[in-house]
Amino acid sequence: MTQRLDMPAPVIIKLPATMAPLPLPDAERARLGERIKRLLKERDAVLVAHYYVDEDLQRLAEETGGCVADSLEMARFGNAHPARTLVVAGVRFMGETAKILNPEKRVLMPTLEAECSLDLGCPADRFIPFCDAHSDRQVVVYSNTSAEVKARADWVVTSSIAVKLIEYLKTRGEKILWAPDKHLGNYIQRKTGADMLLWNAACVVHDEFKGQALAALKRQHPDAAVIAHPESPTAVLELADVIGSTSQLIQAAKNLPQRKLIVATDRGIFYKMQQAAPGKILMAAPTAGEGASCESCAHCPWMAMNALDNLAQVLESGANEVRVDEAVRVKALRATQRMLDFARSIQQKSHGD
Ligand code: 13P
Ligand code: SF4
Repeated sequence: MTQRLDMPAPVIIKLPATMAPLPLPDAERARLGERIKRLLKERDAVLVAHYYVDEDLQRLAEETGGCVADSLEMARFGNAHPARTLVVAGVRFMGETAKILNPEKRVLMPTLEAECSLDLGCPADRFIPFCDAHSDRQVVVYSNTSAEVKARADWVVTSSIAVKLIEYLKTRGEKILWAPDKHLGNYIQRKTGADMLLWNAACVVHDEFKGQALAALKRQHPDAAVIAHPESPTAVLELADVIGSTSQLIQAAKNLPQRKLIVATDRGIFYKMQQAAPGKILMAAPTAGEGASCESCAHCPWMAMNALDNLAQVLESGANEVRVDEAVRVKALRATQRMLDFARSIQQKSHGD
């Protein structure tokens, strides 16, 4: 029984004025790559990258013993790695999560201006009173939120374990306040039947995938499977053969019998997906149906701010250190650690089965 009457009005999101940096000539990319490799060693640093960042950064993370992962695995990897500096190529909430979990480590980001529309769409000064007004509910927030919002939450969760966590809370008889992504919230509600009150925000990238245009593309390619991230609108998810986090979609691309795949998530993922499923034909799901506009065009404008040159600069100078107020961090750690513990428990259970 998803409640809509109480849904707060959405926050208007401004996309960044600075778009992706211009592509560099090959020789310059190679030079910067070598410089970054040297600096990572010298600074006892490890590169933790999300699947949506530039391919060059993903490749460097792989080649230097770092990781390219979904947001849950980024948090786990940074937490377990012995390096004293974590360099997080992604968006702000990912750097903050690394800092929340690793206060003793230095956390750097190529840019501190890489936001996320879900984080921006759920400001703490509006969210906290909303939670207070619904104090009978367990507050479950998606990892794509600020440290202040996590500090008010009972649970943090990522898309890879969200359904399982809500199923678990439902068995305990809990009512849920879910934030910020309404599409993911709706999807989980439909899957679990839990009593969920939803915050009203969306991902600017996934929100633009269009159900009608996708249906038309499916008709043109009846032999293709559709795989979609659950931040996509319901009309898109209804057409999907597999719905999952970025890592789960890569796994699906590998395992599905179909050779052709229509992919409804940020196109940055194609690099790792193609590596995991070399024989497959990957097609981007349509973002602009008839009469629709396409602002982000299947690529996150904030993820695109991470580049070779700002990564090299930050390693050189130590600038762009992520800082989280200690009192906020300690509170945010509670719900974030619960997420990691819950993820571990379901992993152990699935290995035991
Ligand atoms: P994942 O946890 O699936 O990597 O998603 C993070 C994200 O920002 C998707 O838009
Ligand atoms: Fe946020 Fe969407 Fe960008 Fe992911 S793709 S970081 S959810 S704006």
